[in-house]
Amino acid sequence: MNGFLKKRAKGQFYTKANPFKHRAFKAWTDKAGLPKTVVLEPFAGANSLITHLKDMGLCHRFKSFDIKPAHVEVKKQDTLKKFPTGYKVCITNPPWLPVIQLPACLWISLSAIIKIFMLLLWKNA
Ligand SMILES: C[S@@+](CC[C@H](N)C(=O)[O-])C[C@H]1O[C@@H](n2cnc3c(N)ncnc32)[C@H](O)[C@@H]1O
Repeated sequence: MNGFLKKRAKGQFYTKANPFKHRAFKAWTDKAGLPKTVVLEPFAGANSLITHLKDMGLCHRFKSFDIKPAHVEVKKQDTLKKFPTGYKVCITNPPWLPVIQLPACLWISLSAIIKIFMLLLWKNA
């Protein structure tokens, strides 16, 4: 299996841009008790979300897990089999796992058809 297919099969796409700058998120962090609360990141990968929160001063304590850790602060664990409990706040971007595994060529054709269809809808709107 090539690199892209392996990543897709396990949903290994990390959040590179910081999604936490929106004022709605800021309002939520106050209600959730950040930065005092321990944050759970159950599908952490390279721990990008925690790094974004830390950079903004919104997280001082966290527990991060991943089936394939890509950062020293992430503990190896299958979260789908054993979900960590006892946390009040959980922030994650979970793996978007395909319900059915399509062959790569069919997957690419299908996404191309959907894009063309959406383009036609948009042009006729
Ligand atoms: C879409 S990535 C997001 C990573 C991170 N939350 C972020 O936003 O950058 C999903 C992550 O879930 C992990 N994952 C997939 N299945 C898992 C499982 N059963 N238990 C724990 N982690 C899993 C993948 O390894 C991958 O790192």
